[in-house]
Amino acid sequence: MIIGGSSSQKLAANIAHEMDDVLCPLETRKFPDGERYLRIKKEVDDGVVVVQSTGFPQDENLMELFLILKTLRSMGVNDIRTVIPYFGYGRQEKSFNSGEAVSAEVVCQLIEFAGASSVYSLNLHEKSICDLFQIPAFNLSAMPAIASYVEKNVEDPVIIAPDKGALGFAQEVAEILGCPSDHLEKIRLSPEKVETKPKNLDVEGRDAVIIDDIISTGGTIVNACQILKEHQVGRIVVSCVHPVLVGDALLKIFAAGADDVVGTNTLKSEVSNVSVAGLVAEALKKE
Ligand code: R5P
Repeated sequence: MIIGGSSSQKLAANIAHEMDDVLCPLETRKFPDGERYLRIKKEVDDGVVVVQSTGFPQDENLMELFLILKTLRSMGVNDIRTVIPYFGYGRQEKSFNSGEAVSAEVVCQLIEFAGASSVYSLNLHEKSICDLFQIPAFNLSAMPAIASYVEKNVEDPVIIAPDKGALGFAQEVAEILGCPSDHLEKIRLSPEKVETKPKNLDVEGRDAVIIDDIISTGGTIVNACQILKEHQVGRIVVSCVHPVLVGDALLKIFAAGADDVVGTNTLKSEVSNVSVAGLVAEALKKE
């Protein structure tokens, strides 16, 4: 039995289809003062899969997740596999300056306290978040799904990571497709501002696919597009796992020369055209 929270209902339905399982109806709405009402509208099995991304509005989606988990526990469900396709608060997995909240750790503890038996997420910003759980936690990769999109839409591409941190993603996709990869050097000056160093790239006349885990403000991708344009690249296809897309990020990316932007459906967005349902279902079937 699969239950989708309000941030991930369609993905939950797709996962239910992939697993040939039943989607359990959930009633969730807000009281006039903004508080959440939630009701699970069906008898539940002893094993349930809950799907809920905890992107914007993070606090509301998290609260709803806690309510789903606790309610299932109070209905006697023992095994609650919790799929959090996009893991909000994933950037602060340690204290970088004294006195800072380790938000990722707090979130992990609360998810566990609310009743999750295991957690599945995709391309966590920091893999070490898995270690903050006492329950089994899995960090799945969406790269096979992105590679399959690239294979169908771009001929003989070069895969570019916009910074060193994304090089692993570029290499994973490049290995699946048997094409070259490279990376740029990025320095983050503030949450909104990044600088990317010029670099010699062997991309002239070739189509390029930029790949990153998250596109947030779009600054990282805009810089990467500008550098690729300076190298007389062919088409630029921008891809990511989690299309957070704050404000006019997407417009900025197209204005910088991207021909296509695609993300997965870990988050709902205008460009969430690659589905991770199949690979999540596969991982759930294995356990
Ligand atoms: C950073 O380490 C991440 O991999 C992304 O590059 C970053 O979150 C993108 O942020 P923005 O779109 O705001 O440049």
